[in-house]
Amino acid sequence: MTIDRCYCYEQTFSHLKQIADNTGAASVEALQAHVTFGENCQLCHPYVRCMLETGQTTFHEVIEADESGA
Ligand code: FES
Repeated sequence: MTIDRCYCYEQTFSHLKQIADNTGAASVEALQAHVTFGENCQLCHPYVRCMLETGQTTFHEVIEADESGA
């Protein structure tokens, strides 16, 4: 299984990372000010948080929301 996007809004993490790099957005909420994603099931949030921390844009393991420390 590969998880590489917000499926609800079809926004890839690499695209979101580009926007984060360009805008300096460092949280899901800050990033949402620039691009629409993560407003439906929110399952992508822990992945986006991890992406913002580590730069990783492709995930092969399930991250539960409560594992992300948020
Ligand atoms: S996958 Fe991002 S809101 Fe559902």
